Amino acid sequence: MRLHGATALVTGANRDLGRHFAEQLLRRGAAKVYATARRPELVDLPGAEVLPLDITDPASVAAVAAVAGDVDLLVNNAGVSLGVNLVDGDLDQIRLTLDTHFYGTLAMIRAFAPILAENGGGAILNVLSVLAFQSYDGNNAYAVAKSAQWSLTNGVRLELAGQGTLVSGLVFGPTATQTMKAYAERVLGSALPDSVMNDPVGIVRTALDGVEAGKIEIIADSFGAAAKASLAGDPRAFVLETASAE
Ligand SMILES: NC(=O)c1ccc[n+]([C@@H]2O[C@H](COP(=O)([O-])OP(=O)(O)OC[C@H]3O[C@@H](n4cnc5c(N)ncnc54)[C@H](OP(=O)(O)O)[C@@H]3O)[C@@H](O)[C@H]2O)c1
Repeated sequence: MRLHGATALVTGANRDLGRHFAEQLLRRGAAKVYATARRPELVDLPGAEVLPLDITDPASVAAVAAVAGDVDLLVNNAGVSLGVNLVDGDLDQIRLTLDTHFYGTLAMIRAFAPILAENGGGAILNVLSVLAFQSYDGNNAYAVAKSAQWSLTNGVRLELAGQGTLVSGLVFGPTATQTMKAYAERVLGSALPDSVMNDPVGIVRTALDGVEAGKIEIIADSFGAAAKASLAGDPRAFVLETASAE
């Protein structure tokens, strides 16, 4: 997938990793970047085409697909991390977590698969997490949603192989975004030192390098590598060993 000259659409592009995706795609010479957000007025990125998009709203997804018919790279970045457990967590929050990561990502893929086919195949990058492979007491609904999104990634890859679409998943652990820092302070009661978190710029760079290289799974840090390796072993190891919860 050549990023120079590509037309990309990034979900959740108003801040943090999504904004970095849109910015780095422009820097790499993308011909057009649709920077989408629930609140488009918050997107501050010269050169980007800003569109309103809530991935949990079918009408909003359809409206964006109707406008962005030239997309050949879809970056499913939008997500929520609500710090909700499964047994005693609020059921509406659990549903919102799955509505966003699983059904929202699926809605985008269903809307854009024909567009990608029309534009030569292109690529989809799904932003997953180390919690696709591991649980974390305190944020287990998020882990379920990320596991579902990982399986979705693998299934869609098979279904879109015939039209030549690269379907790639990005796996990584705690990263220094505003949300992650706020989450740590709210849930853990203390700030996480930057030294235990990834630099978001580096994660996005590794992700885009992976897409350009045609990788179907991009393990972007040591958390991701350790989690993937642990899957062959004792299920008691399927737990994120860190003071964070992404
Ligand atoms: N940061 C980490 O440590 C980490 C680690 C692994 C994976 N990830 C994953 O990386 C992605 C980005 O994470 P981040 O830390 O940059 O998160 P973030 O700062 O919370 O940003 C999430 C973005 O998603 C948007 N969003 C949420 N629900 C949406 C919806 N229904 N429709 C459209 N946009 C929606 C948010 O918009 P609003 O501003 O309107 O809320 C925001 O722009 C997520 O998928 C996350 O699960 C993050």
